[in-house]
Amino acid sequence: LELQMNLEEIEKGGYDHFMLKEIYEQPRAIKDTYRGRLLADQGLIRMAGIDLNMEKFLNANRIIIVACGTSWHAGLVAEYIFEDLARIPVEVEYASEFRYRNPVITDKDVLIAISQSGETADTLAAIKLAKEKGAFVFGVCNVVGSSIARETDAGAYTHAGPEIGVASTKAFTTQITVLTLIALKLAKAKGVFSESKYHEYLTELENIPNKVEKSLQSNALIEIIADVYKDSTNCLYLGRGYNFPVALEGALKLKEISYIHAEGYPAAEMKHGPIALIDEHMPVFVIATKKGHYEKVVSNIQEIKSRKGKIIAIVTEGDEQVRDLADHVIEVPETLESLTPLLTTIPLQLLSYHIAVMRGCNVDQPRNLAKSVTVE
Ligand code: G6P
Repeated sequence: LELQMNLEEIEKGGYDHFMLKEIYEQPRAIKDTYRGRLLADQGLIRMAGIDLNMEKFLNANRIIIVACGTSWHAGLVAEYIFEDLARIPVEVEYASEFRYRNPVITDKDVLIAISQSGETADTLAAIKLAKEKGAFVFGVCNVVGSSIARETDAGAYTHAGPEIGVASTKAFTTQITVLTLIALKLAKAKGVFSESKYHEYLTELENIPNKVEKSLQSNALIEIIADVYKDSTNCLYLGRGYNFPVALEGALKLKEISYIHAEGYPAAEMKHGPIALIDEHMPVFVIATKKGHYEKVVSNIQEIKSRKGKIIAIVTEGDEQVRDLADHVIEVPETLESLTPLLTTIPLQLLSYHIAVMRGCNVDQPRNLAKSVTVE
């Protein structure tokens, strides 16, 4: 037993929990994801699974993305990226709904299945259904040789390395990285991007690990904020555009490991319901980075403030407008709008982590949850 405990300590690499280790691994994990694929100085993205099937992607009527849990949130981010950058229509589905919905699928559809473990039963079933109907199926998995990796027609691994913590962190950011690479590759092949814009994206993506590193430097501040809100019973997460899925993911992280009820919402939908919940006891985490509907999110913040809600905002470095309104601000470096989820996710992961630790929860193995769900 002692030997086993020592082994676990070694595996945690000096961190108290696997989750924290995996949060801190993200700069390296993202680099591993794009290593050998992103050749920014040559203006190239090399991905065999896409190169060999380029026609299928270019001729697709639409891309359907299926996944569960955190991977589904990565799918939602990908919907924004694919439509915005590559101008290909995308639908994102919970695998569990898709498989039983008698969905309309044709051989002109491309289905992308996203799964960290590659073993999720519902995602696997969705793949089988799409294949039966003639769709081309592409997998984005972390675990090499997993069932989903084997069942798909082609794919791209995330190369995040083993993820032990049940709450997914580096799997999420590396999934977004792979999906961004694919979208950029398709955008280039379709000619929807100017050379200079394409290069700007490649260079910025290459630099993202440094910016993730910078985002991690807010850890001490986040611990202080976590201490203020650790006894909350409810929390709201708001974001818009690319950061709407990040709000969902932030809320999921808090629920999973701290057992605090949390809901993620698109900021503009606040007025259709959640605003009724806001009072001085409600912490609202708002992602309000400079690009992407900033002014609109600022007016949401004003609405929260006038109802005495507590505002914790994730902002772009140097922001002053939100700083004046919010109770707390956490800065992330500036980047291209479509890459912001890779940065704004980081403080929300750390926040959930610290709150869960302060509440004495089992961070790496939360109650009732499994790392991979191989049954329906
Ligand atoms: C479980 C895990 C989540 C994960 C989801 C999908 O619920 O606890 O962290 O996001 O399954 O798993 P997958 O392996 O398919 O990404």
